[in-house]
Amino acid sequence: MAKDIVVRIGGEGGEGVISTGDMLARSSARAGLEVLTSKTFPAEIKGGYAMYQFRVSAEKILSHGDTFNIFVAFNKEAYEVNKGQLRPGTVLVYDGPGGDIEPEPIEGVIQYQVPMTRISKVDLGSPISKNMVALGAVVELFSFPMESLKELVRNKFKRKGEDVVNVNIKALDSGAEYVRSNIRKTDIFYVQPQKSGQDSIILSGNEAIGLGALVAGCSFFSCYPITPATEIANWLAKYLPKANGVVVQAEDEIASLGHVIGASYAGAKAMTGTSGPGLDLMTELLGFASMAELPIVIANVQRGGPSTGLPTKSEQSDLFLAARGGHGDFPRIVLAAATIEDCFYLTIDAFNLAEKYQMPVIILSDGSLAFRTEKISRPDISKINIVNREIYSGDGGYQRYEVTDSGISPMSLPGQSGGRYIATGLEHSETAAPKYSDEYHTRMTEKRFKKIANIEDEYSASEWDGNGSADVGIISWGLTQCSVREAVKRCRVAGLSVSALYPKLVFPVPVKAIRRFASTVKKVLIPEVNYQGQFAELITAHAGIKLIRYNIYGGETFTPDQIESKIKEVI
Ligand code: COA
Repeated sequence: MAKDIVVRIGGEGGEGVISTGDMLARSSARAGLEVLTSKTFPAEIKGGYAMYQFRVSAEKILSHGDTFNIFVAFNKEAYEVNKGQLRPGTVLVYDGPGGDIEPEPIEGVIQYQVPMTRISKVDLGSPISKNMVALGAVVELFSFPMESLKELVRNKFKRKGEDVVNVNIKALDSGAEYVRSNIRKTDIFYVQPQKSGQDSIILSGNEAIGLGALVAGCSFFSCYPITPATEIANWLAKYLPKANGVVVQAEDEIASLGHVIGASYAGAKAMTGTSGPGLDLMTELLGFASMAELPIVIANVQRGGPSTGLPTKSEQSDLFLAARGGHGDFPRIVLAAATIEDCFYLTIDAFNLAEKYQMPVIILSDGSLAFRTEKISRPDISKINIVNREIYSGDGGYQRYEVTDSGISPMSLPGQSGGRYIATGLEHSETAAPKYSDEYHTRMTEKRFKKIANIEDEYSASEWDGNGSADVGIISWGLTQCSVREAVKRCRVAGLSVSALYPKLVFPVPVKAIRRFASTVKKVLIPEVNYQGQFAELITAHAGIKLIRYNIYGGETFTPDQIESKIKEVI
């Protein structure tokens, strides 16, 4: 019996691959198991190769894994794409006879043939239910909990009508029955339900950002839809109005950030969600928000770039843009999420930091996190610290941009007695009157940057995994972290001396933490899913540390295997 199983399902976009994987993952989570999912799908609405992978285990899962143990192939293309990864011990479940797959015998690979197309099309007269036949077969083969799956199927399709629900339940039963009557199981993979005492919820990265915003007190969200960020808006459109909030779909990204800035000026906690091309468009207003000292949050879900690039794939290549994009000198804060929990908690942090420092905070997520679902402990909302902006409380002589010791000056709300001011993008005086002199530009630039001069001490968000010295230290941010965590664990089991630093604040670069960490290790390795080594460049520029870079840039995330091999090579 294998304790840790990775299942991959592949087929054509439109064949219901994603629904199938999602239901299996959710039923596993309901059965008390840990799950972590990932998916890739084409940019087209129908056609092209779609893949859903999930890892299920009785123990905490750190990453999506190296490869799969069970592969369910819906069509020939999916088989061709994945056949190179079929190794001895792997199980292949495929559509046949009647499908278009003719697998070659591969030594040690266990093959189960299930006529998914024939049963759905000929026996049930419902070709779209092919995926449910496959689902029924998989449930029977590997002991997934059937009853909770039936409930998920009912919930999923009830909006499509009773007939659709019934035919899909029938398809599920038919797939299971086919296996019982025709297949002799010879593999070792069984899913074993666990008793879980943990109070948990299942969220995707995008949903977690939405929930984080809600908990942080966000009451205004405006965006222009863009893959892979749109689900943040979908989630908030459903829940924010219930908390008396507003969601607006703007005509473009420039307008959406304009809305957010206006809402913030009016006193609301406000956010937009976008991806690289959208953040490009927002950069002028990003500078405006920093200049006018208005708290705003931008969730940027990175995809492969440049230009429209790889809309449904992942990269860590918007860091330069987030940290440096825009004209002129202006401060901003950039946080990077690496897990679903990060998506939730860092979104709250982003609002807290924006409110405290009165400036734009960008939270970087990415396509892999956006589409991943994971089971996380239910957050205890009562223990979460919420920060609100400092509001002007006087009754005259108000100076919106008063130069204080911290650089932070109290804000007034529109209509507040004695609190009138103009939030302007022009350089200005303490009272917000336009001023272009050398003296004012110098004073106000220094005031704006002063606000975050000590941010690393005030917001310590680097996790140091290790104690004492090590042969190799890995600095890892964002999506790469999950595979690094698993690789570090494996290397330690193998007796290697490895430590890791996981910064969540990526700009301003946490120089002190990085220097301290680097002084305890012989070599510093930094893996990133981008060509230029964007964080490595920033660290070199700000902390002056010598780094070994390890970059991939194909649109996929690192596997733990890749990181483990690199650590061994470096040692
Ligand atoms: N019976 C009835 N309906 C079924 C079904 C069944 N057995 N199985 C699946 N479906 C429905 C699903 O409910 C879904 O419809 P919905 O959207 O109304 O809910 C639809 O068929 C697609 O199934 P799903 O499992 O969600 O996806 P898939 O694996 O077939 O892949 C996608 C389709 C996701 C690849 C494609 O639809 C898509 O969205 N592509 C990405 C487009 C994009 O974002 N492009 C980027 C632009 S920049």
